[in-house]
Amino acid sequence: MTSSFPATRLRRLRGSAALRSLVRETELRLDDLVMPLFVVPGEGVRRSLDGLPGIIQLSVDELVVECADLKALGIPGVILFGLPEEKDDLGSGAYADDGIVQRALRALREEVPGLLRLTDVCLCEYTAHGHCGVIAGEDVDNDPTLDLLARTAVSHVAAGAQVICPSDMMDGRIAAIRGALDGAGHSATPLVSYAAKYASAFYGPFREAAESTPAFGDRRSYQMDPANAREALRECALDLEEGADVLMVKPALPYLDIIRSVRDRFDVPVWAYNVSGEYAMVKTAAAAGWLDERQAAVEGLVGIKRAGAEVILSYWAREMVAWL
Ligand code: PBG
Repeated sequence: MTSSFPATRLRRLRGSAALRSLVRETELRLDDLVMPLFVVPGEGVRRSLDGLPGIIQLSVDELVVECADLKALGIPGVILFGLPEEKDDLGSGAYADDGIVQRALRALREEVPGLLRLTDVCLCEYTAHGHCGVIAGEDVDNDPTLDLLARTAVSHVAAGAQVICPSDMMDGRIAAIRGALDGAGHSATPLVSYAAKYASAFYGPFREAAESTPAFGDRRSYQMDPANAREALRECALDLEEGADVLMVKPALPYLDIIRSVRDRFDVPVWAYNVSGEYAMVKTAAAAGWLDERQAAVEGLVGIKRAGAEVILSYWAREMVAWL
C-alpha cells in the first residue's frame, strides 16, 4: 500500500470538523475520568489550595454535596484522600474505624449511592513523619508496613469503599491487602494497583493538599526511579501475580512510554494518574495567559488515553463536564 503525493493527500480527511470527528482515533469521555477529592475534619469546610487552583479540601458534609453534584454531572467515580485530625508515627488515623475517610465513605454510601467510591490506600497523610510506612532508622520498614496497609484497606471496604487503590509502593502489599480483604469477606472488591509509581517532583501540589510532605529525606527508597522503564514492567508483573485487577501508571504525561508498554504487555485494564503538578503547570500557564486551559487540558488527557490508559484520575474531571 504505497502511494504518495499527489495521489495521497492526508489533508483530505482534515477538511471539516465533521470529517475530523469521523476519523478520530481516540475519544475522551466523562466515563473515563475519576475525580480525586480531599476530605478534612470539621463541618462546612471548603478550603481552597494555592497549589491546586480549583480544588478544595472538603469536610464530610460538603463532600456529600460535591459528590451529589459530580454524580448528577455524569462523573462515574471519586477517589478519596483524607487528612486526619491527628498524625502519629504509625499512621493510626488511616485504619481507625472512625477515621476521616471511613466517615466520608459511610456518608457517601448512604447519601450518594451510585457514585463509585474509590480510596487511595497509603499511610503518608496519616504519619507524623509523612512517609508511606513505618520508619526504622532512616528508612521505611517494608514488612511491618504491610499489615497496616492491609488494615487500612479492610477498614475502607467495611465503611463503603468499592475499589481499593494502594499507592504506597511497598513490596508485597498487593498480596497482603488481597489476603486481608479475602479473609474479611471482601473477595469481590477490586484492587487498582499504583504499580508503576515514580518518585516524582510532580506530586508537589498534592503534598500541600494532603499535608503529606516527608519530614525528612524523600521517597526514592520506595517509589521508582524516573529513569527506569523495564523495572516498571517487573512491578506490574509482580502486582498481577499478587492479585492486582488493574495496573496504574503515575504520573502520566512524563511516562506515556510506560503506559504504552504496560498496555501492550498485559491484558488487564490500564489506568493513569494525571497528577497535581501536571495539572498545576497548565493552570498556572493559563492564568498567565500563555495557553488555553481547555485545549491544553483536553490535549493532555487525550494523549494519556492515546498512549493506552483507559481511565484517568484527573483534577480536571469536573471541568471536563463542560469541555467535552
Ligand atoms: C500517596 C499519594 C501521593 C499521590 C497520590 N497518592 C503522593 C506521594 O506519593 O507523595 C500524588 C497525587 C498527585 O500528585 O496528584 N502516597
